[in-house]
Amino acid sequence: MGRQLTLHILRYNPDKPEVKPYLQPFKLEEEERMTLFVALNKIREEQDPTLQFDFVCRAAICGSCGMLINGKPTLACKTLTKDLPNEITLMPLPVFQMLGDLSVDTGTWFRELNIKTEAWIKTEKKFDPTALEDRMSNDEALAIYEADRCIECGCCIGGCATANINPDFLGAAGINRVARFMVDPRDERSEAEYFEIVGTGEGVFGCVGLMACDDNCPMEIPLQEQLAYVRRKMALAGIKM
Ligand code: FES
Repeated sequence: MGRQLTLHILRYNPDKPEVKPYLQPFKLEEEERMTLFVALNKIREEQDPTLQFDFVCRAAICGSCGMLINGKPTLACKTLTKDLPNEITLMPLPVFQMLGDLSVDTGTWFRELNIKTEAWIKTEKKFDPTALEDRMSNDEALAIYEADRCIECGCCIGGCATANINPDFLGAAGINRVARFMVDPRDERSEAEYFEIVGTGEGVFGCVGLMACDDNCPMEIPLQEQLAYVRRKMALAGIKM
């Protein structure tokens, strides 16, 4: 017989603001190799079909299942219950708009982030479908690949002190996105243009260096290194301007 787990889950429906948020305890028996994805689905199937939470891939790819698990922002589908105590508290990620219970809207936030950072290759080069592919060095390709591993789960944002008090802060995911284009040799933006986007208190200079983003990234992207890279570039650009 497995352990008896108690999941204390934050319940709130923004469409019924008269019912204040509360923690509802759910008991269930732990199974071998059980993840929080399995636990939450069991609760929804067997105990409360109204429980709201998000999952798509179950494999740490889609970034939908970010939540606070005993206070730590991380992915529920990647979290085994055996690594948690008997009492587990689940809350939605802060900063993002709450849709209900554990479900938050990260999509709108990330779409706005992509628009703010203009997260696409900017070049004057005309597209030529007959041309050979642009070449780049292995190091450049690897640096782009590293930044592109971000699954936009929002865990770095939910755990970030600055993002929690400044809704306009780009956060580690945003700064990582900017780093991705800065290292891309096809992007022709000048440092001054990047400075406009990220050389501000809402950008790279808003970070106070608590490093929660780095600690909480489920993909283990070295976010503080990305931040240091962009900050160095922007500090030099600021001196030249
Ligand atoms: S369900 Fe896709 S990352 Fe967890």
